[in-house]
Order: sequence, then structure tokens, then C-alpha cells
Amino acid sequence: MIGIGAGDPGQLTLQAVRAMRDTDVFFLLDKGEAKADLTRLRRDMLETHLADRSYRVVEERDPERDRSAGGSAYSPAVGDWRSARADIYERMIAQELGEDETGAFLVWGDPALYDSTLGILEEVRERGTVAFDYDVVPGVSSVSALVARHRTGLNRVARPVQITTGRRLAEEGFPEGVDDVVVMLDAHQRFRAFADEDVDIYWGAYIGTPDEILVSGPVAEAAPRIERLRAEARERKGWIMDTYLLRRSPGGR
Ligand SMILES: C[S@@+](CC[C@H](N)C(=O)[O-])C[C@H]1O[C@@H](n2cnc3c(N)ncnc32)[C@H](O)[C@@H]1O
Repeated sequence: MIGIGAGDPGQLTLQAVRAMRDTDVFFLLDKGEAKADLTRLRRDMLETHLADRSYRVVEERDPERDRSAGGSAYSPAVGDWRSARADIYERMIAQELGEDETGAFLVWGDPALYDSTLGILEEVRERGTVAFDYDVVPGVSSVSALVARHRTGLNRVARPVQITTGRRLAEEGFPEGVDDVVVMLDAHQRFRAFADEDVDIYWGAYIGTPDEILVSGPVAEAAPRIERLRAEARERKGWIMDTYLLRRSPGGR
């Protein structure tokens, strides 16, 4: 499992390139029209770093996830989707990989952060129908890329930082004792809820790619700008990936 960074081909580590060069078969899961750009980026990386050797690419369609399921139905929908993915991984490993061959999943950002590939591979292993071993190569996460582009840190001196989802931020707000929160997977711009508080936002979309957009400042001032830029970009490209850091004055409410 190879972390490939969050969009900038320059974030591919030497370790990742070495692992790619030791790979016979690359498994790519295509998420349809909207995510064709992400598959293209992976293919470009392979063409750049493996130009002198042969390799195979196996592309599969990612199963659709039931995003309509809200509330308590959310988790079972995610569970079904993981199992459907595990079926595909199992089949790909069993059918596309020779006995002594090495396969690789090129995982966006860092495989350790809000990515299901690790869990799915473990599920496949537990089923026991195909035997394999694997290693994980860490990647530059979108969180690292975000704060680097804003030239700021994740935590303040001796303070904690929390990474969470848009859904949880909306439900729980800032966690107890934490004033720096990184928010991922937020389709609903939940930062708007903090416009009346003393909170700064460091926002980035398509970080590391030619479409990158960065905005920072007090939420009250930055939010309308982010909303406009986000809507325009989403309309133009058909998809968006954005991440942000919310930073509250320590102890502020
Ligand atoms: C399924 S998670 C995968 C995260 C990935 N494993 C990582 O380390 O960044 C997808 C979320 O990551 C964030 N993300 C990934 N790449 C990004 C990028 N280039 N720019 C902004 N956000 C990004 C967005 O919050 C998106 O909703």
C-alpha cells in the first residue's frame, strides 16, 4: 500500500518510488467521471517513474456508496460499501496477481488518514481465501500539505490538535480543551457556524494541483469568499476536495 501524496507529484517520496519500482501490478479503483482526474494523476506518476520497465495496471470501478443514508443508517451503508470493495480487492488479488508477484494500491495522501484501504485489505486477509503479505508506505497527507501551503503549524506550542470530519464538527463543535481542529470530508461548509466567534480558518482546495485555491483569515471575513470560490470551482470541475484548519483563540468561546 503506497501513499502517493495529496495531489502534487513532487510529494511522492523516494520510498514510494522504490516501492512502485518493485511492483508488477497496480490496482486502480476508478470512481467514475468526476474522479477521472485522480486516476490520470496516478497513471502519470507511473509513466514518469516506471518509464524503463514493464508493469500492468488493473482498473476496476469503485462500488457506489449509498450517500443518501443518513443518521443511524450511515454506518451500515459504509459497512456494505467496504464489503463490496473487499470483494473487488479479493478478486483482483486472486485473479490478477501471479504467485510470486507484487501488487500495489496507490493511496491518496497518507493511507493512515481517513482512508479505508487498510481496513479493507485486512478484511480480505481475514476471509482467508487469498493469502498475501503487505507493507504500508506513508505519504504526505492533505493535512500536511494544507498547513505547509499556509506556512503555519498544526498545533500551537504544547497544545493539542484534533483531526475530524465535517459531520462531527457540526454535531460536536470544538472538542473540550482543543482550539485547533482540522476538518476533512466536509461537503457542507460547516465552518460557517463559527462566523460569530473568534476563529481563524486556513482553507485549501485541490491542494498541490494546478487548480489549488487557498484562503485564510477570520471565519467571518473568509467564509463568504470560500463559499463563492468553492461553488465556482465545483461547477467548473465537477468535483472538489477541500480541507481546513480552524484556529480559535485559546480558551475563547
Ligand atoms: C477520503 S479522505 C482521504 C485523505 C487522504 N488519505 C490524506 O492523507 O489526505 C478525502 C479528504 O481528504 C481531503 N483531501 C485530500 N486531498 C486533498 C487535496 N489535494 N486538497 C484538499 N483536500 C484534500 C479532503 O478533505 C477530502 O474530503
